[in-house]
Amino acid sequence: MNKKITILLLLGITFFFWQCASKKSISQLQFPKDSIDLKVDSVLALMTLDEKIGQLVLFTSDWESTGPTLRATYKEDIKTGRVGAIFNAHTSEYTRELQRIAVEETRLGIPLLFGYDVIHGYKTIFPIPLGEAASWDLAAMEKSAQIAAAESTAAGLHWTFAPMLDIARDPRWGRVCEGSGEDVYLSVEIGKVKIKGFQGENLLSVNTMLACAKHYAAYGAAQAGRDYHTVDISERTLYEAYLPPFAAAEKAGVKTFMTSFNELNGIPASGSKYLLTDILRKEWGFRGFVVTDYTSINEMVPHGYAKDEKHAGELAINAGVDMDMQSAIYYNHLKKSIEEGLVKVEKVEEAARRILRQKFELGLFDDPYKYSNTEREKQKMFTAENLDFARDVARKSIVLLKNNKVKNALIPVLPFPKKLKSIAVIGELANSKEDMLGSWHGSGDAKDCVSLLQGITTKIGNSTNVVFAKGCNVEGDDKSGFENAIKAANQAEAIVIAVGEKWWMSGEAASRTNLDLPGVQLDLIKELVKTGKPLVVVLMNGRPLTIPWVADNAPAILETWYAGSQGGNAIADVLFGDYNPSGKLPMTFPRNVGQIPIFYNMKHTGRPLALDNKYTSKYLDVPNSPLFPFGFGLSYTTFKYSPVKVDKTTFSQNEKITVSVTLSNTGNYDGEEVVQLYFRDLVGSVTRPVRELKKFEKVLLQKGASKEITFSLTANDFAFFTQDMTFKAEAGAFEIFVGGDSNTENSVKVTLK
Ligand code: BGC
Repeated sequence: MNKKITILLLLGITFFFWQCASKKSISQLQFPKDSIDLKVDSVLALMTLDEKIGQLVLFTSDWESTGPTLRATYKEDIKTGRVGAIFNAHTSEYTRELQRIAVEETRLGIPLLFGYDVIHGYKTIFPIPLGEAASWDLAAMEKSAQIAAAESTAAGLHWTFAPMLDIARDPRWGRVCEGSGEDVYLSVEIGKVKIKGFQGENLLSVNTMLACAKHYAAYGAAQAGRDYHTVDISERTLYEAYLPPFAAAEKAGVKTFMTSFNELNGIPASGSKYLLTDILRKEWGFRGFVVTDYTSINEMVPHGYAKDEKHAGELAINAGVDMDMQSAIYYNHLKKSIEEGLVKVEKVEEAARRILRQKFELGLFDDPYKYSNTEREKQKMFTAENLDFARDVARKSIVLLKNNKVKNALIPVLPFPKKLKSIAVIGELANSKEDMLGSWHGSGDAKDCVSLLQGITTKIGNSTNVVFAKGCNVEGDDKSGFENAIKAANQAEAIVIAVGEKWWMSGEAASRTNLDLPGVQLDLIKELVKTGKPLVVVLMNGRPLTIPWVADNAPAILETWYAGSQGGNAIADVLFGDYNPSGKLPMTFPRNVGQIPIFYNMKHTGRPLALDNKYTSKYLDVPNSPLFPFGFGLSYTTFKYSPVKVDKTTFSQNEKITVSVTLSNTGNYDGEEVVQLYFRDLVGSVTRPVRELKKFEKVLLQKGASKEITFSLTANDFAFFTQDMTFKAEAGAFEIFVGGDSNTENSVKVTLK
């Protein structure tokens, strides 16, 4: 242990016990104290008000920027003990340098906490979260978080700003790529395994880190899908759709929460006592600390909620914000607010206590440098094992959206035979390494990524003539490359065309109103489809796109998202049958933007669609149905579901009900299927959605094999916020569906007594 910290602790403990003896404890915790609380109190007892406020301050380093402001003086701030945490600073060397300032040059030597957006990998980059969600493989998602934690902690990081738990029902919103999509249950389950992957069993381990449930709350409900826009939703929608992943994260032991930028029903999240104290602390019992999003305290001024920055700080701390990310408002104004009696000093102490507690839990007071380990950084980073795993997760994330035969062919286009004489690989994205990374790619480097062209060449380049032609860029109207691309296509036996969005077209501040393929990419596809050759459209994108022409006319479509460091190899594995695709969409693909918001668990309405009746709920110009539904994805093999069986058709509140189907692999390949169980509560004191996902299992079946898949449900699985907002299951009839996507009609009716 560092000498200064040892002395500090000894002094603190003595001082603390003396204080306890002389006056009442300063602790504001509602929980019984454990030994860490005592240590925290002992440190707190030695701190000046400025130092306590300092623990509440988080500044970005100038290493990189993830928001609109930068504070050039952050090193000076560390020296004065007025900043307790730094983000966007990483590598063992740099974190060690900054930590040294905190430990050796400040009065008390309290170590810094280093945070960073480790969203889908640190150096080894996994598919974007929406892509990973398409794998429906919880074990794989936990492991990718573990790897990300192992790499980033070796680079000195203690805290990741992940997972993002925002339910996303509007693909115009660019940040849909950062979460698990539209469904509450899937997002809850993924959130839990991500937290487990990052935090592990023991935060003292050198390869685990604090996770952060963000962005709390309802950020994904931004009006018209425009980032940072207003959110105005009912309390019921908040509780039913947007809060469950956060409530589950709290239960799973997540150590930190991040507020969102948006206002919720008139109150900015960073000033919302309702969200931060009433729900998070009182209803859920959260013990960790709350950080704001980037400068979101200041933003309460333009929101029109705070009259100036000082007022904004008062609103934030009084609402329940512990740590101020980058606003410098606590830094600049909190002391004055306390002097003026507008903020109680206990509020600051409570927040500082929560933050110090995490520093203790990480073991930073024992060894402030334990995570900044150059040797471990060398050993753990971007290892062959990590890359193999990234390739596997990427393959699992790919969704086969269509796989037809071309004219006169006996079998579908995919998988391509490896003994092709020639293949044309077309599109700017086919030859792009940087687009494999997607947004928020940590320390991932484009030069380390495998492009699709490389992946294909590595796999078949020895025996097949692989010809690349860009054809066109993702953006712009330049068609001068078409001729070459068409020529290459005409001379090849098979065609791969990669289209979609550039990586920066989704992510933060990347909303779009038009979700068609940008530029002239569709025109190019139309030309290539004319060849009549086996052709696959490989999509690379961070959100559902509107591609009705492609869906109708291209023989095969593969959704590959942004597949990460090993993306090109993973896609090639799928194209040539070394991996049979098993991904299923975590978000509905609309036919056009006018259908948005469109998600599978909508309400039935009082006039459900009837094509022969004008006065039913529908559009005149497009069907109600999406282009591709939630949960949809094909395989090279085919699966057959038996009718759904239940062990009883009537059950009581404390009984279990067993639901089963026999799944058979009826095709010619071994393959994995995501068996999905949905239900509909037919009558409720509040109307219920047409389907709700409740269980799923990803099953591997050899060709020709069958397996019984069993799900066990209790009344609690059917619970919802009833008319008076009590969470319970109501007696009545339910329809239970089991199948391969959210459209399945394979169902059985049961009754809860
Ligand atoms: C984003 C957060 C992110 C933070 C720190 C913000 O702009 O909204 O998701 O964690 O920056 O980089």
